[in-house]
Amino acid sequence: LRIGVLISGSGTNLQALIDQALRGTLDANIVCVGSDRAAAYGLVRAHEAGIATFVVSYEKYLKGDPIDSLEEAEVEAVDARQRILRDSDEEARRDRLKRLMAAEREILAHLECHGVELVCLAGFMRLLTPYFLDRFRREDRPGVVNIHPALLPAFPGQHGYRDTYLYGCKWGGITIHFVDEGEDTGPVIAQAVYPIWDEDTCQDVRQRGLHLEHLMYAQVVNWIARDQVRLVARSEGRARVLI
Ligand code: GRF
Repeated sequence: LRIGVLISGSGTNLQALIDQALRGTLDANIVCVGSDRAAAYGLVRAHEAGIATFVVSYEKYLKGDPIDSLEEAEVEAVDARQRILRDSDEEARRDRLKRLMAAEREILAHLECHGVELVCLAGFMRLLTPYFLDRFRREDRPGVVNIHPALLPAFPGQHGYRDTYLYGCKWGGITIHFVDEGEDTGPVIAQAVYPIWDEDTCQDVRQRGLHLEHLMYAQVVNWIARDQVRLVARSEGRARVLI
């Protein structure tokens, strides 16, 4: 299975996947690593492992000239299905969506040029629109997966560990899930939990959780590579995953 990993930051999950690949225990090839930030340390990790990298600057699209190279009808169709831009001003929302789609188009071109079959988000801090997701849709198999630092649906968003800690949870968790049009809402593939002790700091919680993330992401990639992850049923609107 040819995987592309998208990152924004330090890339410790990427490193865990690289390490497993070097050990021969990953049933997939990491063919490229993309980032929305040129300064992401994960890019250095990829370089050191000899993996192709690319950077797509969202800023360039979000702040630059209006995008006129996308069909209005296509933008409208994506807008009808997207759930991430809640801007009620239709014109502003469409403009922003178009800019996101233009950035995604550049990412897609890189991923396609490397023949990527599965996209693994590993600390990628951008929300993806249906425009991107459709290109990797593989019916009941995952095309884009994400790792999240909390036990979804608790604590979606960017600060899973901090939110888990501040809430005073006695258990924290991590989730690997299909990516859909929402924010951290796709069907769950795997979760793992860890205890939180009274004397723990937020940093302890983060470390314990990250350790689990690093073990679990490679495991899930292997399940997917062996074609063992399927969406099997929908009950009350939720998909179930069969491993
Ligand atoms: C991880 O906690 C992951 O769950 C979240 O972002 C963080 C990325 O960390 N989505 P790293 O860049 O892999 O070190």
